[in-house]
Amino acid sequence: MTDDRLYTDAALARFYDLDNDWTEDRSFCLRLAQGCASVLDLGCGTGELAIRIAAETDAEVSAADPARAMLDLARAKPGAGRVSWVEADARRLDLGRQFDLVVMTGHAFQVFLTDADRALCLAAIARHLAPEGCFVFDSRNPAAREWEAWRPDLTLREITDPELGPVAAWDDVDWDAKRQAVTYETAYRVNADGREFRARSRIGFPSLAVLDRLIAAAGLRVESWLGDWSGAPLGPDSPDFIPLGRRA
Ligand SMILES: C[S@@+](CC[C@H](N)C(=O)[O-])C[C@H]1O[C@@H](n2cnc3c(N)ncnc32)[C@H](O)[C@@H]1O
Repeated sequence: MTDDRLYTDAALARFYDLDNDWTEDRSFCLRLAQGCASVLDLGCGTGELAIRIAAETDAEVSAADPARAMLDLARAKPGAGRVSWVEADARRLDLGRQFDLVVMTGHAFQVFLTDADRALCLAAIARHLAPEGCFVFDSRNPAAREWEAWRPDLTLREITDPELGPVAAWDDVDWDAKRQAVTYETAYRVNADGREFRARSRIGFPSLAVLDRLIAAAGLRVESWLGDWSGAPLGPDSPDFIPLGRRA
C-alpha cells in the first residue's frame, strides 16, 4: 500500500509514466472537471491528470499522494506549478476545505486491503466533497479476473527510458481467493547492463456489495454505477466498478 516500492522507490517510480499511457479514466475525469471550480485528485501518482485539469479547465486543483517519489516526478512537470501537491495518505487527509469534484483514478482505491481502510478513504472523499460536489473512482470487478492475464508471457513489453535506453518489463501474479487480494510483481530489466528493478504489490478486489455498503456508510450516494470508463452501465462482466455519486 503506502509502502509499495513501485511508487515509493524513485528507481521504480521513474518507469511509471513510460509504462502507463494516458487512459480513458483520465479523459473521463478531465471532462467531469469542466465547469468545476475546484478538483481534488486522491492517489494522484505522477500528476498527469491533475496537471491536465489545471491546464485545460478553470478549476483550482489539489492532488495528494503519500509516495514522495511519485510527487517529485509530478512536481517536475511543465504546468505543475498550477497544482497544489500534498504528500498524504488519502485515509488521513484533511485539507479543511471542500471540492466540486473528488477523483481517484488508476485503480488507486485498490491499494486498500481492508474494509476499515476503504471506509477511511471513503470518509476522506465525503469530508472533502462540497454539498453539490461529485466523486468518482474505480475498482476492478473480481468477476472479470483481469489478474489472470498478468503473467510474464502475456505482459512482456519494452519501454524506452530516455537515460537507460530500452527496458524490458513484465508482471507476475498470485491470487489469494480467501482474502480477495492479488499480489503481483512488476519487473524492469535494463537491456544495456541487465540491471533489474522489481516491486511486489498487493491490491484488493472488493465486491460490489462491499463497495455499496461502505459508500453508503460514508454518507455518500451513488447516482450511477459504470462498468468501464467509456461510461457504459455496470453489468456482471464489466471490467470495473465505477461509482459516480455525491453526498447522501
Ligand atoms: C496505480 S497508481 C495510480 C496513480 C494515478 N491516479 C494514475 O491514474 O496514474 C496508485 C497510486 O496510489 C498511491 N497510493 C498508495 N497508497 C495510497 C494511500 N494510502 N492514499 C492515497 N494514495 C495512495 C500510490 O502512491 C500511487 O501513486
